[in-house]
Amino acid sequence: MRILLLTHAFNSLTQRLEAELQRRGHEISIEFDIADSVAEEAVALFRPHLIVAPYLRRAIPESIWSQHVCLIVHPGVIGDRGPSALDWAIQAGEGGWGITVLQAEAEMDAGPVWASAVFPLRAAKKSSIYRNEVTQAATSAVLQAVERFAAADFAPTPLAACRDARGRLRPLMKQTDRLIDWQRDDTATVLCKINAADGFPGVADTLFGEDCHVFDAWPEAGLHAAPDARPGELLARRETALLRKTRDGALWIGHAKRAGGIKLPATLAFPAASAALPAAPLKDWWRSGSATWQDIAYEESGGVGFLHFEFYNGAMSTAQCERLRAALAWAKQRPVQVLVLMGGTDFWSNGIHLNVIEAAESPADESWNNINAMNDLARELIETDGQITIAALAGNVGAGGCFLARAADLVWAREGVILNPHYKNMGNLYGSEYWTYLLPRRVGDEGARTIMRNRQPLTAQRAAETGFTDACLAGDAQAFRIDVARRAAEIAAAPDLAVRLAAKRERRAEDEAKKPLAAYREEELAHMRRNFYGFDPSYHVARHHFVRKSLASWTPRHLARHRDLGWQVPA
Ligand code: COA
Repeated sequence: MRILLLTHAFNSLTQRLEAELQRRGHEISIEFDIADSVAEEAVALFRPHLIVAPYLRRAIPESIWSQHVCLIVHPGVIGDRGPSALDWAIQAGEGGWGITVLQAEAEMDAGPVWASAVFPLRAAKKSSIYRNEVTQAATSAVLQAVERFAAADFAPTPLAACRDARGRLRPLMKQTDRLIDWQRDDTATVLCKINAADGFPGVADTLFGEDCHVFDAWPEAGLHAAPDARPGELLARRETALLRKTRDGALWIGHAKRAGGIKLPATLAFPAASAALPAAPLKDWWRSGSATWQDIAYEESGGVGFLHFEFYNGAMSTAQCERLRAALAWAKQRPVQVLVLMGGTDFWSNGIHLNVIEAAESPADESWNNINAMNDLARELIETDGQITIAALAGNVGAGGCFLARAADLVWAREGVILNPHYKNMGNLYGSEYWTYLLPRRVGDEGARTIMRNRQPLTAQRAAETGFTDACLAGDAQAFRIDVARRAAEIAAAPDLAVRLAAKRERRAEDEAKKPLAAYREEELAHMRRNFYGFDPSYHVARHHFVRKSLASWTPRHLARHRDLGWQVPA
């Protein structure tokens, strides 16, 4: 079938659906929901058999839904309606939640139901629930709905006739619904409120007496300093996070957005005031035994070292790259045979930190520093000669993050992960992280050119088929972690480990003799220097719009296939 994806943005759910539907032989084209007339034009050009709307912020015009079946993904259980579905569910502490695929009709979210799926609701950030549980449930329900539509023998159930409907219409959640009362709310309530608002819109609050929105909260179990402090008072800082007193304990605020500003690591949003707070560093890289804010954490078991880096949104600033490199260098000295780079829960890495760069006095200089720090980290990984290294992708990975992962000997991705191993979407960025060394040796020169040119997301399955990764492991995040640990322990205990390590060292030495890593880096950075400092400002413009979330005014041509020059309107 020809299926048009009508969506507000090419977000991770849309990327996953596109890939999964293509995999099942459907012809997919994408149009951003910019204006009714634009959507109508897309429908006229593509003549879809079916329209799927994975992520919309407004209603589909009647001119379209009255002529075509339009399947809407709603992130709520059957019967739930309204624009803040997940926010209400998380804030209410629902034990389970779900998604519904319904047909667009005049009343929003009230059309007949084609498919639905449910899941247990973790106590986690809204963005994390969306990227994991919602995406997984929506993918399986949309695939089921598409099959039902194709079979042409299924009648969707009107909402009023759904026996398992338990949701209801709820309004947009306002900041007054999210308000934190620091005197009354306990730590769990504050965490829940901030979770329900992450990554958008955040909770309106104050820091250092200034209005802002806060995001990214973490519990603190160990630090009960300042018994005299008042609830809401800031107690300390650690790297980029701020510790704040609550009625019954304390919690960390990881990110903040000042009025008119962009979302930044909290200490960078308030640099001077944060610097005046006492520092509360962790004493080493070992994973803390109790709940706290720890962005880099190391643990060990059975000859395997696991390095976790929980960087918000997978973005890695200069300082984060430098600290991670220090942690990796330290881990390499541990008596382990295998090192697994675990990344974070939602993302493994999305490359250089575009928000921190945007906020810098000189974004060009900060881009340069950040890419060099990424490269230093990638080199530290490539040059690990005493251990087998594994990048274990439990979450999505994009741009430079993909090539940082590829710097490990093995890359294993969880089924359901989306990889975007290309840079050009960010204002034609050339990219570095030794990709010119790492990519062709996996997929060949032509394969590398295709991946970079096509700028398409890859599912974990497709990435393994192309040779970009080494394995796609089934299961949810928990099953993935267990599987990774088991496989890594097997490698660590295998009788051929010494031979394997010797072969790895030999190959690296041969590669270095043929063309040193420094030469790859120099060539890549020559391009990057032009991206950052040259007369073409495309990268700076694209970053500005990305960070400020400017509304798209057209769908990129590589996504809107119906707008290709050679596109023929199907008969
Ligand atoms: N720096 C800073 N923030 C980043 C980031 C980066 N490199 N990559 C993603 N983010 C942020 C987004 O702004 C968004 O922020 P929000 O929480 O305020 O909404 C959040 O991470 C999630 O990103 P989103 O685009 O919604 O996720 P996605 O899963 O739909 O898409 C990508 C993933 C990787 C395709 C997309 O985020 C992207 O293109 N990122 C930029 C990658 C890049 O060009 N890096 C620089 C070159 S190395």
